[in-house]
Amino acid sequence: MNEHDSERMLSILSDSGYVATDNPKDAEVIIVNTCSVREKAEQKAYSSIGRYVELKKRKSESEKKRVVVFSGCVAQQEGDELLRRFRGVDIVVGPSQVHRIDELIKQAEIDGTVVAVSPDVSQKRFRNPVKDTNGVKAFVTIMEGCNNFCSYCTVPYLRGREISRNARHIIDEVYRLVASGVKEVILLGQNVNSYHDNSEGELITLYELLASLNDIKGLERIRFITSHPKDLTDKLMHAFTDFDKVCPHIHLPIQSGSNRILKLMARGYTVEEYMNKIEKIKTLRPDIAVTSDFIVGFPSENADDHKDTIFFIRRANYDNIFSFKYSDRPLARASTYGDKVQMHVISERLKELHYTQVGITRKIYGALVGTTQKVLVEGESKKQGRQQGRTAHGRIVNFLGNAPKGTIANVLIDDYSDNALYGKHIPEEE
Ligand code: 5AD
Ligand code: SF4
Repeated sequence: MNEHDSERMLSILSDSGYVATDNPKDAEVIIVNTCSVREKAEQKAYSSIGRYVELKKRKSESEKKRVVVFSGCVAQQEGDELLRRFRGVDIVVGPSQVHRIDELIKQAEIDGTVVAVSPDVSQKRFRNPVKDTNGVKAFVTIMEGCNNFCSYCTVPYLRGREISRNARHIIDEVYRLVASGVKEVILLGQNVNSYHDNSEGELITLYELLASLNDIKGLERIRFITSHPKDLTDKLMHAFTDFDKVCPHIHLPIQSGSNRILKLMARGYTVEEYMNKIEKIKTLRPDIAVTSDFIVGFPSENADDHKDTIFFIRRANYDNIFSFKYSDRPLARASTYGDKVQMHVISERLKELHYTQVGITRKIYGALVGTTQKVLVEGESKKQGRQQGRTAHGRIVNFLGNAPKGTIANVLIDDYSDNALYGKHIPEEE
């Protein structure tokens, strides 16, 4: 979501005549778009904003004024305090107001400094004037905010309560993107499966939205992130069989394999309920790739809770997982919980999660060697001389070949690593 907010600001500014530069010294506007979900991200935000205000101070009087913007969730969290802490910051803007970046820059020219952190609950917050793009895939925000208040999480406080975007606007945007060459859309929302729009008198849930998008000619693939296990309905599960463009991949964060910890996290489901959902989806779509998030070292997590998590990872047979060290967030309830887990214990547990999953991923990827996969070509790979794309299951493939960007290439898989597949393009005529 944060990455997409950066893209939106870039696109809005390019409509106003700005051009992107790789060199901060050349920039008239510098935006540090920040994330507050974990402490490390917040610390990184402070160090980069510190660097840019220093750069601003060094700029000579004869040069044009440089505008420094502190945007995103850390901006929302800290508000005007940031102006005092970092002299040289001109604009502090929260995540629901980043669509006003062009106006705010003009306002700062008049007023000196601007703080825009009051939540925008109108449809305007979804403004996304993406110009013609040669990109292969695009993010499309369909809802924002969260009503769940998981005890460790800061998102509901900073992005506010759930608000869904009008379905008509979403469909129009996807048409526009497809006309400009996009083949895959990734529908975004903090809690994407509680999407609902009533604005035209008829209830549209994520299922109906997917039905409409599935009809768009030229669109090849549709994904949606992130799903909350407790809101994953039977109806939505059917989207994986009813709509051919909906990819067989679901990111379904469980966070812990211990029911005791899940309760403390206020996640609203048990391990058994979660597992039932995975099994149900797999009866509908046996090959579906499931990925997940885990938080390691939530307050009071003990050796048994950790064992439950490791056991669960083996049982769930995830394609891949993201695991994070628990970090206290000032606004979230769990920051007041006692019995914090020591950092060296967290690090050990994190490693164990990692190695457990690597073994599973390697098994899944290894079984794909010798198969031909349909890969949507995204461009050059970071691995020299190779192209890169993804399978419908979301697996990264680095391959030898010359397939045009944006096409779906048949790739014969001949190798794999812990996080990617390797292969060779097999052109149709061969
Ligand atoms: N500490 C560590 N990880 C967190 N996440 C959210 N809040 C925290 C926190 N306080 C993780 C969750 C979520 C992902 C986006 O970030 O796993 O799914
Ligand atoms: Fe945070 Fe929980 Fe909402 Fe996800 S569902 S954004 S973890 S409060």
